[in-house]
Amino acid sequence: MTAKETWKISTATGPLPDPVSTRPSVSRRPARIALIALLAAVGLLANYNVRHYSWERHAASHNSTHSNPHTFANVCPQAPELIPQRNFDTWENLSATYDTDAFKSKAVDWLSKAVQVPTESYDYYGPVGTDPRWEKFHAFHAYLQQAFPFVHATLELTNVNTYGLIFVWKGSDEELKPLLLAGHQDVVPVEPATINDWLHPPFSGHFDGTHIWGRGSCDDKSGIIGIMATIETMLAGGFEPTRTVVLAFGFDEESRGTHGAKTLAVKLEEMFGANGYAMLVDEGSGYDEQYGRVIATPSIAEKGYLDVHIEVTTPGGHSSLPPPHTSIGILAQMLVKLEANPFKAQLARNSPIYKSAQCLAAHAPDLPEHLRKDIFASAYSDEALHAAENALFANLAFKNLVGTTQAIDIVQGGVKVNALPEQAWAVVNHRISTESSITQTKARDIDLLKPLASKFNLAYTAFGESIRYDDHFTVPSTYGNLTLSEAFGKVGLEPAPVTPTEGDDAAPYTILSGSIKAAFNRHRGIEGDVDAVVVSPGVLSGNTDTTYYWKLTPHIIRYGHVMKGSSFCRIHTVNEAMSIDNFVEIIRYHTALMLNVDESALP
Ligand SMILES: *[C@@H]1O[C@H](CO)[C@@H](O)[C@H](O)[C@H]1NC(C)=O
Ligand SMILES: *[C@@H]1O[C@H](CO)[C@@H](O)[C@H](O)[C@H]1NC(C)=O
Ligand SMILES: *[C@@H]1O[C@H](CO)[C@@H](O)[C@H](O)[C@H]1NC(C)=O
Repeated sequence: MTAKETWKISTATGPLPDPVSTRPSVSRRPARIALIALLAAVGLLANYNVRHYSWERHAASHNSTHSNPHTFANVCPQAPELIPQRNFDTWENLSATYDTDAFKSKAVDWLSKAVQVPTESYDYYGPVGTDPRWEKFHAFHAYLQQAFPFVHATLELTNVNTYGLIFVWKGSDEELKPLLLAGHQDVVPVEPATINDWLHPPFSGHFDGTHIWGRGSCDDKSGIIGIMATIETMLAGGFEPTRTVVLAFGFDEESRGTHGAKTLAVKLEEMFGANGYAMLVDEGSGYDEQYGRVIATPSIAEKGYLDVHIEVTTPGGHSSLPPPHTSIGILAQMLVKLEANPFKAQLARNSPIYKSAQCLAAHAPDLPEHLRKDIFASAYSDEALHAAENALFANLAFKNLVGTTQAIDIVQGGVKVNALPEQAWAVVNHRISTESSITQTKARDIDLLKPLASKFNLAYTAFGESIRYDDHFTVPSTYGNLTLSEAFGKVGLEPAPVTPTEGDDAAPYTILSGSIKAAFNRHRGIEGDVDAVVVSPGVLSGNTDTTYYWKLTPHIIRYGHVMKGSSFCRIHTVNEAMSIDNFVEIIRYHTALMLNVDESALP
């Protein structure tokens, strides 16, 4: 996942303000952990061991939650555990297979050897066919072919732009829309300066008895190898799908997907049409303990993205005869103005992140009671909404996930100490709120800089349009220019369409939720539908390959069933590892999902 952003949020903010500091009785550590996990939907700091959790306490708290007078039964409704029915024997047989040590060794082997084939992608690779650095993916394909013979013998493989992979597992009923499972073959590069910090070399795939170590062991080779391992095992057991399953594996997700997912999207649409897939599940978040409850957070939304280039030009000259403000000084004032005016974040009812907050209120026993009450009451009271917002926004990372953000990331200007700078520019990176748009983001930037354009007498052009900032001002200034444009010639990305989670259109989300519960419970031998894991809609701050797949289905879910915290799934940094226990559970999850979707009434 392109979650560098998310990781930075989790680490760079340092000790996060405790959103519940008014409640000294509440342990501070779980509170901090929980919010980070919630907001990122890829919470990476939690270190609570989910396996040590008390299921009795879950069940009891579930009960007491429902007897809580402040609870609204319709808040964060839970899908029941979904155990395959028509495919029950297959489910039982596969579940028993996954319980064996023999299967565990096989799983170790599959993932470990996949990690051993380096597949880094970099931002500036040239097109496939001209840049030989892509050729390393041939070795990965050769590995897949050797490791998954049944998959290669049965599924139809199409290569797209040479390294993109589409596998089609034809179902017996061609009327049914396929299930699309996505993932990516590439990994982020290993920072050379950190090479000695790795406990085991990053491409060793070392297995220490509990964890498989190395770059990609979690992000995202656990995803694609998990899918391949599931299908290989299903095929070995003789399973024949009713509904077609399509796999789409990109090869530059970590570098924006322009060579991989972008070209795969065209082929996928050609194969089954726009809106031709029943649902799409890509990599994404997992599950974690939050405020005393294990919560899985399938991501139903992604923020948008826009890089704005701000350029100031003024006449040059000798530094000995300077104007009061050079291009650099003027630009600096603009940047100060930007930072002094952050976008206003608002917790909007019906926004995806609001649903996450509601799920905490409805299901997390250790959430401070005042916050729980405010979240419940916020459904009808603006005052309560603001109170909940204030409490939740005390955590900067949560706030960042809700609102549009701005980060001044690049600045340039000046060439020589005795020459006035004729030009200075900066690039501001925006992550656009799920409640906003590219147009609104641009408009905010344009308006904010108008007074400074006026003050310095600059002709103002933004995104190709001439901007009038002063009614009295009709002739363009001759002093200089202020120009806003899309940086790097990229138009930006709107926030993703939000996947339905409630109502008539929510069947795919409900099936996924029930499958998560079935896999989670079966993995731990939990009997009965006690909501041992709660499923809550989540939001990703980063973007996945799904940004190219919006046309294929409205039902896009980013979720990989990764156990956060104790699994050492440290994505994009040193000592990335995947616990074999979690990896086997991921395979159970793919199995439950495939069997449930196979027999579902989805179109
Ligand atoms: C939940 O509450 C009901 C009714 O009060 C009770 O019979 C049941 O045993 C409780 N379940 C758990 C798991 O505590
Ligand atoms: C399940 O396993 C049993 C025993 O190995 C076998 O007889 C049966 O055919 C299997 N069923 C399915 C659906 O795979
Ligand atoms: C401002 O832009 C105009 C039109 O492109 C150009 O003629 C002029 O030289 C620019 N002024 C400066 C100071 O760069």
